[in-house]
Amino acid sequence: MTDKNDALKQAEGLLTPLALPHVPQESSIEAVVDQWLHAIATDSKFYCNPNVSCPEELKKLAVSHLKEHALYKSRETFYDNVFSQLPLKPVLNPKFRFIDLFAGIGGVRLGFQHNGGACVFSSEYDRAAQKTYKENHGELPFGDITKIDENEIPDHDVLLAGFPCQPFSNAGVSARNAVGKQHGFLCDTQGTLFFDVMRVIDAKKPRVIFLENVRNLERHDQGQTFQTIQNTIKKSGYRFHYKVIDSSSVVPQRRVRCYMVAVRNDIAASFSFPDFTGEPKPLRTILEKKVDDKFTISDKLWQGHINRTKRNLERGTGFTAHTADLNKPSNTIVARYGKDGKECLIPQEGKNPRLLTPKECSRLQGFPDSFIIPSAKTPAYKQFGNSVVVPVIEKIANVIRKEIL
Ligand SMILES: C[S@@+](CC[C@H](N)C(=O)[O-])C[C@H]1O[C@@H](n2cnc3c(N)ncnc32)[C@H](O)[C@@H]1O
Repeated sequence: MTDKNDALKQAEGLLTPLALPHVPQESSIEAVVDQWLHAIATDSKFYCNPNVSCPEELKKLAVSHLKEHALYKSRETFYDNVFSQLPLKPVLNPKFRFIDLFAGIGGVRLGFQHNGGACVFSSEYDRAAQKTYKENHGELPFGDITKIDENEIPDHDVLLAGFPCQPFSNAGVSARNAVGKQHGFLCDTQGTLFFDVMRVIDAKKPRVIFLENVRNLERHDQGQTFQTIQNTIKKSGYRFHYKVIDSSSVVPQRRVRCYMVAVRNDIAASFSFPDFTGEPKPLRTILEKKVDDKFTISDKLWQGHINRTKRNLERGTGFTAHTADLNKPSNTIVARYGKDGKECLIPQEGKNPRLLTPKECSRLQGFPDSFIIPSAKTPAYKQFGNSVVVPVIEKIANVIRKEIL
């Protein structure tokens, strides 16, 4: 174990000076080195600044450096050094390659990785999410996607992006590029991130695009936002499919999301979403047996929930806080869940209700129990709330792999 760790550390040290001219603004050199190590291990292309080198030459040079220092014998042994200590790893011979944009903690990644795919580039700018990503997937994601030149990104078959949707507002400053302006897609920086995804799509032309977003995307701005997204993708040469899916038949959480799959026009194979019907799963199946009292909500917080519920019931509007029915799925777990837990409070005998633990949130999103959870509660809730239901992604990815790739 230690030998492998040492070898990996040495390899990192060796590649670091070589990686320096390839680091984009607001990304760390560690991201480039990790990408290279994983690319060597999975037989994929290098992230590379084309003004400095070409990816093939760079990879040859990196491998020869590693060989000179006895750090590379064969791809199999190198793969073993890079991935053996990770519970969640790609296969040695990937069936396809993908990139993971707005990667969060890699929930979308896991769904595709479980289907034999290897990740060749990831981007996520939240430092705490980056840390969780590195611990679980062994790579530090690149930073802000708006600062990354699309031509430097390695070739891939599938582009994954759970792009932020807020705020998709019509009132605001002008979009960053001409496509946005043409469509009247007037947003602030967060809104224009979709056009950063398009920048990468237009440069790299992946076979398949997979996007995930909130259910409301379909209805936002009287459907104009969604229309713009569809038209823009179609104009770039793709057939567009989408489905709003409730995850409660695969995990005990009612999370309704909009999933989009676009297939490049020159690919004849057709795509249709898998079926997600079936009995909703009961929340009780994912609960931990022994839970620390620190998850029990305070009298003040519980009283606040009760008062707000009373007011809302009188007005006939708004959210009513009550404890969850353990025989039904939970409500959607959102990024702010840890603040007051109003989306899902677990009843307790003789005490105030409690919040779900981060472990329970991870299970509600269908992450494997081997997934390493951040030790601090607040980022853990935020990261799982922002993430996706892994088995839903896995099922869609399975159809993509079988039918299209
Ligand atoms: C809805 S979450 C996606 C979660 C992810 N699909 C997962 O499985 O965990 C959107 C993510 O985009 C990240 N993000 C927002 N703007 C970004 C940017 N400009 N560059 C990189 N990441 C960004 C946020 O920090 C957030 O983690």
